[in-house]
Amino acid sequence: MSRIRLLSSRLANQIAAGEVVERPASVVKEVLENSLDAGAGRVDVEVEAGGAKLIRIRDDGAGIEAEDLPLALSRHATSKIASLEDLEQVGSLGFRGEALASIGSVSRLTLTSNTDDSDSEGSSALCEGRDMDVQVRPAAHPRGTTVEVRDLFFNTPARRKFLRTERTEFNHLEEVVKRLALSRFDVAFNLRHNGKAIHSLRSAGSAAERQRRVASVCGPAFMEQAIAIEAEASPYRLWGWVGLPTFSRSQADLQYFFVNGRVIRDKLVAHAVRQAYRDVLYHGRHPAFVLYLELDPAQVDVNVHPTKHEVRFRDGRAVHNFIFSSLHRALAEVRPGEAAGVETPLVAMADGLAVDTTTGEISDQPVLAWG
Ligand SMILES: Nc1ncnc2c1ncn2[C@@H]1O[C@H](COP(=O)(O)OP(=O)(O)OP(=O)(O)O)[C@@H](O)[C@H]1O
Ligand SMILES: [Mg+2]
Repeated sequence: MSRIRLLSSRLANQIAAGEVVERPASVVKEVLENSLDAGAGRVDVEVEAGGAKLIRIRDDGAGIEAEDLPLALSRHATSKIASLEDLEQVGSLGFRGEALASIGSVSRLTLTSNTDDSDSEGSSALCEGRDMDVQVRPAAHPRGTTVEVRDLFFNTPARRKFLRTERTEFNHLEEVVKRLALSRFDVAFNLRHNGKAIHSLRSAGSAAERQRRVASVCGPAFMEQAIAIEAEASPYRLWGWVGLPTFSRSQADLQYFFVNGRVIRDKLVAHAVRQAYRDVLYHGRHPAFVLYLELDPAQVDVNVHPTKHEVRFRDGRAVHNFIFSSLHRALAEVRPGEAAGVETPLVAMADGLAVDTTTGEISDQPVLAWG
């Protein structure tokens, strides 16, 4: 065995990048989340060759001070939390202080920013997959930040080999922009690919504008066949749109669930939604939905997975019951003849739990088969 030594900061960042930066879409997710955390009202995303050649994201957020640019590019450096208590009720999308350091270690990254309202101020920092000794130069930039990521994985050939076709990478990247556009109606999103405008979403303040954005992101057919959801049972609130059973899909490709503004994939949530649709969907069909769950940040742990796609609820059972009963009720109201008065057997859940399909209550009664 060799002796133990500390990894160089570059290698440590590249290892961390393995968790966070899987493909161009991951870069767009991280950089856009930073823009949203910085209070941007508008973000412009410009990509070339599916993002493998260039990803440039500009925002009009708070900006970064010149002296802080090297820190922004170092690992474990964040302005978003300072203590464990902060982490336990974090409201920002970022908190790990790893994203930019990771991206910078596997690409040619330029960070240009200005915290001042005068357009001629600003500074730029370049980091080219090297150690983190970043050079900062003056550069004109309006208030806000531009992150330019060129030649992703140029120095990690193994990763580069896993990149798929330009079209596939772009589709993943566009999906990230769509998710974030659905999470923040108040922010304008623009996406261009190879010089062509793909999405131009103006900020949506009114209910009608929000619906228009959902129609533009999910397709007009979804909005035409969706019902609005609005349910509250302290400490939870659920709102959004769910597709009518007639708008079911052959794939689970139109399912957006946000917890406190963060897009997540969660088994418990998926199960609650599936059960709510159980009586009204044909076997093998998938519901379409855009749903927002809001609850006290202290009730949900977001530090479960490096990409933050998973969360852990403090009271998973209550969350499940709330989602299930809210959706089940809404769907029953649409098709009263069929949903009301139906025999409602207990449906089996994992862990020997059973859910009553009328009330949505979970009980501990063991049920053998899956519903
Ligand atoms: N667009 C931006 N506008 C203003 N500040 C930014 C922007 N992007 C990054 N920063 C600053 O740089 C810091 C580092 O960003 P980075 O994404 O690496 O970490 P983070 O967002 O704090 O945590 P995470 O790794 O979870 O994303 C941020 O904490 C923030 O202070
Ligand atoms: Mg971040």
